[in-house]
Amino acid sequence: MENIDWDALRSAAAEAAQHSYSPYSKFPVGAAAFTEDGRIVSGCNVENVSYGLTLCAECGLVSALHLSGGGKIVASVATDPSGKPLAPCGRCRQLLLEAGGPDLIVDGPGGPRNILELLADPFTQEDLYDGNSE
Ligand code: THU
Repeated sequence: MENIDWDALRSAAAEAAQHSYSPYSKFPVGAAAFTEDGRIVSGCNVENVSYGLTLCAECGLVSALHLSGGGKIVASVATDPSGKPLAPCGRCRQLLLEAGGPDLIVDGPGGPRNILELLADPFTQEDLYDGNSE
């Protein structure tokens, strides 16, 4: 956790928030993450007139992860346009776990925490396959 440049990540998230499409909530969000090979991937929230179809900033981040070469994320943050860390919503905690695995560190209002503190006892591939992925 000590090696993560959280200021760089919060700045990247704040920059991503500038691209938000959020005419309904008027609440721009950006998300950014370091990948295990040192890339920064980011995303912004994209809303829809059918409100429930809204894509959180973390959805764009996960798409950017795969589009830019895949792998895992090791640290992530979602912020408002000023760079203030936000708590990720419940759905996004599940998305972040899949993208980063159980060692992922997620920044938030209370500081950086392990994803499993934010999403205790999650549904995982082991539940899906009952421990057998064949
Ligand atoms: N939002 C995110 O982008 N990520 C989160 O983790 C929490 C919520 C967005 C969705 C919506 O466009 C706006 O914040 C207000 O809920």
